[in-house]
Amino acid sequence: MNMKNVVITGASKGIGEAISLRLSSEGYRVCAIARGTKELKQLTVKGGTNIIPFQADVTDPRKIEEIFQHIEKDLGPIQVLINNAGIYQGIHFWDQDISTINTIIDINLKGSLFCTRLILPYFISRRKGRIINIASVSGVRGIPKETAYGAAKHGMVGMADALAQEVKPYGILVTTICPGAVDTPLWREGDTVYHGDLNQVMRPEEIAGLVSFLLAQSEHTIYKRIVVFPHNEWH
Ligand SMILES: NC(=O)c1ccc[n+]([C@@H]2O[C@H](COP(=O)([O-])OP(=O)(O)OC[C@H]3O[C@@H](n4cnc5c(N)ncnc54)[C@H](OP(=O)(O)O)[C@@H]3O)[C@@H](O)[C@H]2O)c1
Repeated sequence: MNMKNVVITGASKGIGEAISLRLSSEGYRVCAIARGTKELKQLTVKGGTNIIPFQADVTDPRKIEEIFQHIEKDLGPIQVLINNAGIYQGIHFWDQDISTINTIIDINLKGSLFCTRLILPYFISRRKGRIINIASVSGVRGIPKETAYGAAKHGMVGMADALAQEVKPYGILVTTICPGAVDTPLWREGDTVYHGDLNQVMRPEEIAGLVSFLLAQSEHTIYKRIVVFPHNEWH
């Protein structure tokens, strides 16, 4: 009950997996949310008993609410929410299916809004809590072939900017990390291609290191937005 509880969405692969493994190794209890049970199981095998898997889709607010209630009741207060779940498609907007536009907005943006909305009553009642959003450089500038994705990520940045001010009087801190390319399964699965050298982009462990750094900082200092990208990009 005395461990610090972190909830992270999209925990089973890529950046989410690296953050989960880093924080669990530092003694946090990581409540790891993703849809795929097999990948969640693999995560717990790698990360051990500090990782508690929760199979859920961030687009299902009722299920997310149930999970938060369960954690608060049985594992103790949630101290940190990390909105990381996301999907990507790099494609000319005129070629993108309407259903994919919907899914990109639903998972990346509405999933983050739902999880944030549902955690706030706990954080506000305790006047304490941290929310870390994993957005993208696509949330701070326009990138061709990322129209829907960029709209979702700009939305996350806008959400965080407004919310950070609303919740500041309640001692709640909101930080958004906007990474450039990171070498994760996002670039290696399905029809998504990285048109460059994946060896030159960032490692998921670098983002995990940033999150670990943020959680170690004093609550008197606000880290509003961190834009971070590999040397072969500029944003
Ligand atoms: N890789 C990059 O270059 C890069 C750069 C900037 C920002 N980002 C952002 O970083 C975040 C993580 O990306 P990544 O590269 O680590 O991607 P990834 O390797 O594809 O992993 C995505 C994770 O999100 C989960 N997920 C997807 N849809 C979900 C849903 N509806 N509900 C719950 N979990 C869901 C996936 O598991 P399931 O499919 O089993 O649910 C998986 O665990 C995303 O928000 C992405 O936009 C990535």
